[in-house]
Amino acid sequence: MNVPRLGVNIDHIATLRNARGVGYPCPIKGAKICQQAGADGITLHLREDRRHIKDTDVYAIKQAISIPMNLEMAVTDEMLAIACDVRPDWVCLVPEKREEVTTEGGLDIINNEKLPNFIKTLQSSGIKVSLFVDPDTAQIDKAAALGADAIELHTGAYAEAWLACDDEPLVNEQVKNELMRIQKAVAHAKKFNLLTNAGHGLTLDNVAFIAQIDGIHELNIGHAIIADAVFVGLDEAVRCMRQVFLDKVALLDG
Ligand code: PXP
Repeated sequence: MNVPRLGVNIDHIATLRNARGVGYPCPIKGAKICQQAGADGITLHLREDRRHIKDTDVYAIKQAISIPMNLEMAVTDEMLAIACDVRPDWVCLVPEKREEVTTEGGLDIINNEKLPNFIKTLQSSGIKVSLFVDPDTAQIDKAAALGADAIELHTGAYAEAWLACDDEPLVNEQVKNELMRIQKAVAHAKKFNLLTNAGHGLTLDNVAFIAQIDGIHELNIGHAIIADAVFVGLDEAVRCMRQVFLDKVALLDG
């Protein structure tokens, strides 16, 4: 079984920086530390309100790293122009609401008239396109029909179920149901040969059961790694997350 790639989302380094309106901690330095610690990619979300990552960060990080950059963004003309100028390796299209604390659900790609041309424009600029969707077969069918290069499954409901349960997570019905939804979605995406990533709310505690799903290509993890970094440092936090992936896959292969 393949070990999933680890994409580290560095948005919350910028959240901390912006809390004081100063230049530190620097997300560019953070991206380089993640790369050195074994991250397979760097993810960043340029939000419409620029609450964490700023336009200058996007350009600087593209220059600073040699691993793939994954730019998360909303389906807007402003973001399309920036992406086509920066040319990240990947763009992940996400829904965005100004008042939300974080991305609350997958993008509904079934009823989005803008998407076909949007995806084509990005792809013709040499950018691969991933669609952040809920683990739902109808969304996956549509992602394949749209010619996306990958999907990223929203694992937020699984993570929330994990946090909400006060018994052993793996015997908790809600956790088991959400895990099963993700497993089924990964199996469904395999039929189309769609690269399948996942992310949102993943932590050292809950990630192993997602990392062990055969067919998961990459996991994008932000908040938990940056939170762990407060206590152990960013290098160690990235290495620990990566080690969980390696241990879980070694256990299954053994
Ligand atoms: N993947 C996508 C598409 C996201 O929008 C986010 C949050 O920005 C993440 C992964 C990372 O989520 P978390 O910060 O909860 O690990």
